[in-house]
Amino acid sequence: MKRVYFLLAFSALGMNVYGQKTTDQRVAELLSKMTLEEKVGQMVQYSGFEYATGPQHSNSAAVLDEIKKGKVGSMLNVAGAEETRAFQKLAMQSRLKIPLLFGQDVIHGYRTTFPVNIGQAASWDLGMIEKSERIAATEASAYGIHWTFAPMVDIARDPRWGRVMEGPGEDTYLGTQIGLARIKGFQGKGLGSLDAVMACAKHFAAYGAAVGGRDYNSVDMSLRQLNETYLPPFKAASEAGVATFMNSFNDINGIPATANQYIQRNLLKGKWNYKGFVVSDWGSIGEMIPHGYAKDTAEAAEKAIQGGSDMDMESRVYMAELPKLVKEGKVDTKLVDDAAGRILTKKFEMGLFDDPYRFSNEKRQKEQVNNQENRKFGREFGSKSIVLLKNKDNILPLSKTVKTVALIGPFGKETVSNHGFWSVAFKDDTQRIVSQFDGIKNQLDKNSTLLYAKGCNVDDQDKTMFAEAVETARKADVVIMTLGEGHAMSGEAKSRSTIGFSGVQEELLKEIAKTGKPIVLMINAGRPLIFNWAADHIPAIVYTWWLGTEAGNSIADILFGTVNPGGKLPMTFPRTEGQIPVYYNHYNTGRPAKNNTDRNYVSAYIDLDNDPKFPFGFGLSYTEFTYSDLVLSSENLKGDQKLNISVTVSNTGKYDGEEVVQLYIRDLFGKVVRPVKELKGFKKIFIKKGETKKVEFTLTPENLKFFDDELNFDWEAGEFDIMVGTNSQNVQTKRVNWVK
Ligand code: NOJ
Repeated sequence: MKRVYFLLAFSALGMNVYGQKTTDQRVAELLSKMTLEEKVGQMVQYSGFEYATGPQHSNSAAVLDEIKKGKVGSMLNVAGAEETRAFQKLAMQSRLKIPLLFGQDVIHGYRTTFPVNIGQAASWDLGMIEKSERIAATEASAYGIHWTFAPMVDIARDPRWGRVMEGPGEDTYLGTQIGLARIKGFQGKGLGSLDAVMACAKHFAAYGAAVGGRDYNSVDMSLRQLNETYLPPFKAASEAGVATFMNSFNDINGIPATANQYIQRNLLKGKWNYKGFVVSDWGSIGEMIPHGYAKDTAEAAEKAIQGGSDMDMESRVYMAELPKLVKEGKVDTKLVDDAAGRILTKKFEMGLFDDPYRFSNEKRQKEQVNNQENRKFGREFGSKSIVLLKNKDNILPLSKTVKTVALIGPFGKETVSNHGFWSVAFKDDTQRIVSQFDGIKNQLDKNSTLLYAKGCNVDDQDKTMFAEAVETARKADVVIMTLGEGHAMSGEAKSRSTIGFSGVQEELLKEIAKTGKPIVLMINAGRPLIFNWAADHIPAIVYTWWLGTEAGNSIADILFGTVNPGGKLPMTFPRTEGQIPVYYNHYNTGRPAKNNTDRNYVSAYIDLDNDPKFPFGFGLSYTEFTYSDLVLSSENLKGDQKLNISVTVSNTGKYDGEEVVQLYIRDLFGKVVRPVKELKGFKKIFIKKGETKKVEFTLTPENLKFFDDELNFDWEAGEFDIMVGTNSQNVQTKRVNWVK
């Protein structure tokens, strides 16, 4: 009891048990010493001057001066021990010596890059995803970076949107698990550890639902859909203690996310009780003027802070307007205190008040420049992200002793592009990035020959290189074609209205196919592409996304069977652009199409099948997995009982391999209609050839909950289909009745 009084007494004084001040106490004390301008200063973030990740401003000298005056809280795009130290020194000249936070887009690796995030998602390997962010955080923090603008947890059902490259794909459950793994990896043992960076759940919210897949476009959807499909990864991130949130460029039902009281105040800082801070996206406060939501910068600043945006990234309106607005009584000073307080809290938690230079350490940085261990992991992660889409007559894996192999296509000898979009640490790249050519060459037998022809460029109409490519193919026993879209054709502001191979690549493929040589096609992309001709005519297809520093080695590991592919698609692959959005967890409609032939008065296109080219969760292996014995612990459940589910998976093929076993449910009838399938669990397992494993899942009523039309989140008694299988189309099904 005495101890309780003792603790209470200390916490009342704002101290911990050791008599030290708590962070809250230190923040409050500091705030009490700050002028209004200094508080607003904490809410300002500028970009460094060497490069920009958004529309750039040019008055750099003024920024340096502002830092010295304590009018800047954070910089982005300033990295490196030396550079961050130099900027921090300026902040130490300010009256209260409040350190700067250095933010950076560390999106899929830093010095060592890993597969683009949609590729990572295809691994369905949460352990590897977490580890990759642990590595990224270790590397980035050694470069003086405190904060990454990741993970992007935007669910996206439209592959035309360029930023699907950066996200977890179309599914809320998978996306949530991936987001959590990434946050855990970034934040490591917790803020304040020298190898942890603050994570940032972005883009809050529904950025992935931009109309037509056009970046920055509007979002119009029911609150039910928003809560059920798009917000869960954010809620989970908030519960997991993600240090920051970033809002999004889009409006949601007419209100820009940046000033959206419903999502930022009511939900995030209200219902979810989130204690971190929210940074705007680049310029998104100012962009409320063209949105037509604020008539000038003053109104934009006012609406943004009322709406819960704590930090202004590069709109340059908070410092210009907020002090005035507070003085005029239009903005309550408590809002400024709250926002600045949230930001200062993170600076304390990062240990920056104890030592503002603690992350700017040249020695640590040097150790991370070209870390071989990290590269080794990157190679493995790359191969786990590849998805085998087709392997007719088991062309793959290739023998290492094939006499002559021809590598043909514009990506064969590419190096830096293997990083994919977002590789900010490579402006000064000096390390070797493994090209596909080198990766294949490294593994091919010494007595074999590897030929190469570029064939065409990534994105123009030039066919002059075709003849040489055809000649090269003729000399080979097997042709590896490497096609796709350019690495910078996906990413921010990289929406495409057609998503096939760019330029004349498909024509090149057709010319090479005429030689009659066996072809293995590798597809490089940051999104699902449409490639029907290839899918129907080419015997072997591997989807390689963009794999990062070790790309060539990862690819060769798959082509030659050192690694057996086990990746599965995290997004549905459409047949045509006209079929978009197409996703596995759609509703049934009142007139579902029963097959692809009877299109009369059913929900179908008269000229197109309803099913996609490749379904969500699809991916082949060099071995065969056979599913049997779906067993449920009961077919009649009541209340909070648990449903245990098991299935037997046998490796009946010729190779050891990994399989992602997927659990889906369907709630047959509801107060609101429910999707035909919802992913509720998955397990990635390794099974040796000839062996069998039993895979188990558990469901509770918690897993059955959904949002109704009044936004109540609950489950309903009734019948549910329980489905387990190798992808979202190929499942075994059993039905249960679950009463309250
Ligand atoms: C704009 C992007 O939308 C966001 O994701 C990124 O973090 C910022 N620019 C900063 O580069």
